[in-house]
Amino acid sequence: MKSWVIGNWKLNPASLNEVQALVDDLVDGVNTQSSALEACHIMVAPSLLHLAKVDATLRSTRIKLACQDVSALSATSGAYTGDVSAEQLQDLGVQWAIIGHSERRQYFNEQNAILLKKMLNCASQGVGVILCIGESEADFEAGSTTQVLGEQLTVVADFLQQLDAVEADDYIAHKLMIAYEPVWAIGTGKVPSVEEVTTVHQFIRERLQSFNSTLAATPIIYGGSVKPDNAQDFAASEQINGVLVGGAALKADSFIDIAKAFSK
Ligand code: PGA
Repeated sequence: MKSWVIGNWKLNPASLNEVQALVDDLVDGVNTQSSALEACHIMVAPSLLHLAKVDATLRSTRIKLACQDVSALSATSGAYTGDVSAEQLQDLGVQWAIIGHSERRQYFNEQNAILLKKMLNCASQGVGVILCIGESEADFEAGSTTQVLGEQLTVVADFLQQLDAVEADDYIAHKLMIAYEPVWAIGTGKVPSVEEVTTVHQFIRERLQSFNSTLAATPIIYGGSVKPDNAQDFAASEQINGVLVGGAALKADSFIDIAKAFSK
């Protein structure tokens, strides 16, 4: 399976000039090192405000674009102040959306019922879903990781049930990805061992397969303090199909170094 290396820029950078500089550096780096990066997909998720600008630069490149969120209220258009719909993303050429990032769960109180609506809205417009799941530090220490992830993953079972059966297989084979991000590893510099992540990914894979056998091929990527100096270790595990990178995605060089590790 070709790995996925995805940069989540969150609410960064602050100015349009910095955004343009980052995306220009990224395009330069990917072009000059293209042979070392062939074996992985590369994607970035700028802020909503910057999507159109970044899209204009990336359109002629192999770098894919994702949104950090999508409306739960409408897949198309309507009176929903502040929201952006899956149809609007699709129209702009944004092929993927990150759904259920732990920061959205924490600060915007997003739970499975809302996430399900977002996933269905994406599916109805052909926008891919990168569903983030992960346990808190307290859950990790209490040994509750798989229980928490199991609860978070029930949204996938509900999603499959509500997808149009005719389109479900095609959609889930190509447009669904799970990002395992232990909350305690995000932005902290603390990382679980590769063995721990591998075991968790095995659990996720088994749970997905129990919902639908097509999910045997769903990419399961890891996120949380991924840096150039630990990317190689994560890339060595067959269970880790890529990474979702926050801080280290804000410098083109470090992001490309991570992508190189996943392209071997
Ligand atoms: P980090 O963030 O790489 O800065 O830990 C990862 C994420 O939140 O997706």
